Amino acid sequence: MAILDFPPAPKLDIYGELDKTKASQSELQGEAIFNGKGLCVACHPAPYYTDNSMHDLKAERFYKQEMVNGMMMAHDGMIKTFPLRGIKDSPPYLHDGRCFTLEDVVEYFNLVQELHLTTQEKTNLVAFMHAL
Ligand code: HEC
Repeated sequence: MAILDFPPAPKLDIYGELDKTKASQSELQGEAIFNGKGLCVACHPAPYYTDNSMHDLKAERFYKQEMVNGMMMAHDGMIKTFPLRGIKDSPPYLHDGRCFTLEDVVEYFNLVQELHLTTQEKTNLVAFMHAL
């Protein structure tokens, strides 16, 4: 992994987690959701926010497979977890760029993981990811 390429993240401590003396309340609450209700940490552990492993998110549970432009919509299957350090600087997101913003990605995982996040929880998760 090209860890030397990550941009500076001045709010992170030596464990790659938020430094409570530097982070905002919204960022800290976002980190709590990331590690708690959102279960993001299951696949995106600090310090690089990836488990370097393959996962099948089974997004096809939520759409009807059909022909689009003469091609059959396929299952995504197994995909390796992307690191989230410096994530704010590298849109679009997911392997095929289907999400243009971090707000879109939070909405995607809210659906795929069936999390029922509140608007405030989504805002805080995005604030947290901006600090990574
Ligand atoms: C079961 C494992 C798993 C969980 C849980 C999970 N992710 Fe992911 N994450 C992945 C995988 C795999 C990808 C790549 C998926 C793809 O490209 O289609 C990914 C991609 C992403 C990306 C896009 C990275 C990029 O460079 O495009 C973001 C942002 C992200 N996850 C944030 C989250 C957040 C926030 C949560 C919690 C709400 C979460 N993830 C929960 C496995 C997971």
